[in-house]
Amino acid sequence: MASADSPRVRVFAPATVSNLGPGFDVLGLALHRPGDVVEAELSDRPGGELAGVTGDGGALPLGTGRNAASVAADEVLRRVTGAGRPPGLRLWLHKGMPLASGLGSSGASAAAGAVAANEALGRPLGPEALVECAMAGERASCGAAHADNVAPAIVGGIVLIRSCDPLELVRLPVPDGLFIAVVHPHCEVSTATARARLAGRAFALPDIVANAGNLGALVAALHQGDLALLGRSIDDRIVEPLRAAMIPSSTEVRSAARDAGALGCGISGSGPSMFALCDSDDAAARVALAMRQVFRDRASLGSEAWVGPVNRDGAHVLP
Ligand code: HSE
Repeated sequence: MASADSPRVRVFAPATVSNLGPGFDVLGLALHRPGDVVEAELSDRPGGELAGVTGDGGALPLGTGRNAASVAADEVLRRVTGAGRPPGLRLWLHKGMPLASGLGSSGASAAAGAVAANEALGRPLGPEALVECAMAGERASCGAAHADNVAPAIVGGIVLIRSCDPLELVRLPVPDGLFIAVVHPHCEVSTATARARLAGRAFALPDIVANAGNLGALVAALHQGDLALLGRSIDDRIVEPLRAAMIPSSTEVRSAARDAGALGCGISGSGPSMFALCDSDDAAARVALAMRQVFRDRASLGSEAWVGPVNRDGAHVLP
């Protein structure tokens, strides 16, 4: 039962593009849309109870400990429970984005769950603690507590995860004039499966060196506002080559994006969505169209696209 003086809070958390080429598990940025909404209210029943999910076509688990949003909220509760704190939260998750899309779907749910829980409890935790709580949601969802989706979903902008344990986030500058095109082809890649492809692999030193160069250059490009260097740095020699075959026509999509004027193009998170960085809104719209055309013509896949600047704000309370 909700307490009389505890109104329901509603929190939006955005989709994210993680990895950004060479930054596997350590780089991510927030989009303006799509995203998830979590509603939360205090409850006398201990723990985070997920009372309902909409927008998922019935695909997501409601059970305790299995949904990213409720696991994240539960972790918030666990950290703040004590004298005078309410024992529980009741939550509703509204999915506004595709599942298994590479757009940080579980990350958006976990981020919205953590932030909504924190709001309902009177904001006892700061952003870094909330990222840690949301990482628990990621672990429940895909088996790995990576932060490259939940960190930008919560704090916004472009984030580098220097370390997960202890958590250290580095917020990177967002250059003026940077626009993102994201295309989601209508097929699914589970993050757990995409991560399993990498398990136990040995990687060649020249590829590790190339990635180190690209990751360093990418961070420098963001600081210098050098969009051309940023685009050249979106080149991953380690993870994307192992995952490209999971996305129909991904090589052709990348070429089409570059031909249409993208600065750089890669797999968003674990795919199948792909992203392109562009230097104007018009260019991003043109590039998104070219990418969609390849998915349609070469792979017979429908798709949807989102185009816009980086979301600098991250998760926020809705009126
Ligand atoms: N960095 C993660 C991966 C993101 O590529 O597996 C998953 O969304």
